[in-house]
Amino acid sequence: MTLEQPLTIAIDGPAASGKSTIGLLLAERIGYIFLDTGSMYRTATLAALRSGVPIHDENAVVTLSEQIHIDIGSATGYDDERMYTVWLDGDDVTWDIRLPAVEQNVSQVSSYWGVREQMVRLQREMGQRGRIVMVGRDIGTVVLPDAPLKLYITASAEERARRRWLEKQERGDDRSTYDAILADIKRRDAIDSGREHSPLRPADDAIIIDTTEKSPEQLLQQILSLAAFQTVSAE
Ligand code: DC
Repeated sequence: MTLEQPLTIAIDGPAASGKSTIGLLLAERIGYIFLDTGSMYRTATLAALRSGVPIHDENAVVTLSEQIHIDIGSATGYDDERMYTVWLDGDDVTWDIRLPAVEQNVSQVSSYWGVREQMVRLQREMGQRGRIVMVGRDIGTVVLPDAPLKLYITASAEERARRRWLEKQERGDDRSTYDAILADIKRRDAIDSGREHSPLRPADDAIIIDTTEKSPEQLLQQILSLAAFQTVSAE
């Protein structure tokens, strides 16, 4: 019996649940590609903001999302802080997609079916190549419904706000207070979970993990043993 890890690992969860941090750690540890799909919706939002397209004009935002070119690749060769590099039409937008204006508008943009269609198509293309850890809101339910390992990572809104606030402080970004971050997380949770298309929810076969009292290393160990267990039980 050969022990092989699942070729695709789907990780979903609410904003700031730590799913990207753990997804990247996991991908690095097992030599997989890491794709944070939230960065794609953020890039589409940034494109709309930059080109002056009104965010509430669904048709215009969808049309724009069909015209832009998004690339995601390695962090190597840039600043030490980034997890990966994102390009919008060749321009490095890795940090611009974290701007408050993007945070405020990304839930709206990602609620548009036409935008989701574009992004899901690209995500599935990448998923088909295998050896990938894909992180988002609808990976286990819509993008990769056949993924052999699906995780749903969550934590209390207060803990998530605390982590996001700390992250920003460490980057020297003190523009947002803890209360403002908490309010924004709650607002985004409500939109992400309540939207009509692909709302945030765990897949029926996802393993739900609450990380409120777990360190990234503890979580990583738990997931590594789950990944091995999945394979043993599947054979
Ligand atoms: O994970 P994040 O905070 O970077 O995600 C940004 C937004 O994108 C978030 O409001 C929800 C949306 N999103 C989505 O709708 N589907 C995904 N697969 C990933 C993110």
